[in-house]
Amino acid sequence: MAHTVKIPVPALNKEISVSTGLFINNEFVPSVDSSEVIQCFNPATEEVIASVVAGSAKDIDVAVAAARTAFKTTWGKNVTGWERSRLMNKLADLIERDAQELAELETLNNGKPVAVARDFDIGDSIQCLRYYAGWADKITGQTIEVDNKSKMAFTRHEPIGVCGQIIPWNYPINMWSWKVAPALAVGCTIVMKPSEITPLTALKLSELVVEAGFPPGVINTVPSLGPVGGAALSAHPDVDKVAFTGSTITGRKIMEAAAKSNLKKVSLELGGKSPQLIFESADLKQAAAWSALGICYNTGQDCTAGSRIYVQDSVYDKFIDILVSTVKETVIGDGFDKSTGGGPLVSKAQFDRVWGYIDAGKAEGAKVVLGGERRNTKGYFVDPTIFTDVNSDMKIVKEEIFGPVLSIGRFKTEEEAVALANNTTYGLGAGLHSTDASQCMRVSGLLEAGTVWVNQYNVLSNNVPFGGKKQSGIGRELGSYALEEYTSIKAVHWNIGEKLQWPLSL
Ligand code: NAI
Ligand code: MG
Repeated sequence: MAHTVKIPVPALNKEISVSTGLFINNEFVPSVDSSEVIQCFNPATEEVIASVVAGSAKDIDVAVAAARTAFKTTWGKNVTGWERSRLMNKLADLIERDAQELAELETLNNGKPVAVARDFDIGDSIQCLRYYAGWADKITGQTIEVDNKSKMAFTRHEPIGVCGQIIPWNYPINMWSWKVAPALAVGCTIVMKPSEITPLTALKLSELVVEAGFPPGVINTVPSLGPVGGAALSAHPDVDKVAFTGSTITGRKIMEAAAKSNLKKVSLELGGKSPQLIFESADLKQAAAWSALGICYNTGQDCTAGSRIYVQDSVYDKFIDILVSTVKETVIGDGFDKSTGGGPLVSKAQFDRVWGYIDAGKAEGAKVVLGGERRNTKGYFVDPTIFTDVNSDMKIVKEEIFGPVLSIGRFKTEEEAVALANNTTYGLGAGLHSTDASQCMRVSGLLEAGTVWVNQYNVLSNNVPFGGKKQSGIGRELGSYALEEYTSIKAVHWNIGEKLQWPLSL
């Protein structure tokens, strides 16, 4: 097949070329043994945009070998932190230069509004690269006193090596940068496997990797089906670490493959069923606005989607009224239409999955107070849907839906609210809305989640760690914490004076 495809991007009104091969050693190459392709769809129109090469397990071997060679020769411990920093800043500048083009490509393949892709996903990705470029020459260990006379010890925070990075389709560029930036900063090399649903922007970013001047093999990109390329990376004996964002079920498989192969280090950022608590003292209008953002942002395809809301009895009716009218304002539509606040769901599979949950909610007796009706038009559009009168046994309350579907329950006491919030196997995000500072402090301490938002929701920052408790994950991304995921610590014990008498006189 051809190695580039021309894709018209509507807002810029031009065609951009995207290389469709596998990106290994700074070149786009065909598969060594497979003629499979991945078809990429526009979820707003259900039409095919492009086909790209689907990498095989053997292609993963080639990419891992390239990453290993780079690690041993041109990257890893062979390059200074400030040189890594310089290249990362260059890459950030190029992404900034091409932000509009990348955003349109993201919208075509993922569906999200162009402005969201450009100003939030890509804007945040540029910042993320610059944030970690700042860390690249500040990786320090410790010097440790051992006996004050003849010995000392120090630690080195060494790059862990070759990293497999498996990312999902909900934030293709953003998850790319969250994974790539800390790994590059400390000197790791990368085999990236983008989601088979949204591989186009990772391929376009690969062109910028070459232009920025990274040595061949530092970042490789192998679009592939999850059970093929993702599984091969997780089980690979020469991959030192695998970083993953996606479903809990796939996370489990990755950890198992790591355990059965070479015990590679694993970090997992998995699903959630994140609660928000609305206490009676809350500013209800603000709480409703943050709640709307929590469930409608990215059309609910968000690992921290605030998909369960519990409201204190005394303000329950009032809050529901405000929330329904707030969420009703959300415009779900084509990402190229400027009035759109949220795009379609990413795929037919996701569309069917979300409708399966809406139908289950109705069948289990929850009450629909907004949405819940099919459009019967082209495109995977689902309007925000709110259920009340739910109970803890319902599927819609227990399982991650990954669409704009919200369940609302009620509570009388703070104790009951915390128990409801924590009644889940997940622990990614949680929100609480209250103007009682003592309550905010108390409840934020009791919520079992890696991120707790107080009087806001879904806002992240590159310098603040992010990750899950319970079955929402292992490890932390962002902030200085993410550096730990990509380094391995070496302790050096240094003898400067002790003479060993052998045999030991005991
Ligand atoms: P998934 O977890 O299967 O896919 C995410 C990534 O994992 C993709 O790159 C995929 O190719 C890869 N993958 C799939 N099977 C693999 C395997 N056996 N070994 C290694 N890698 C593999 O998620 P999927 O099936 O696309 O979506 C299903 C549900 O997962 C969603 O409805 C949502 O609930 C959840 N999800 C959560 C995400 C998050 O941000 N936490 C992102 C995407 C999905
Ligand atoms: Mg899957």
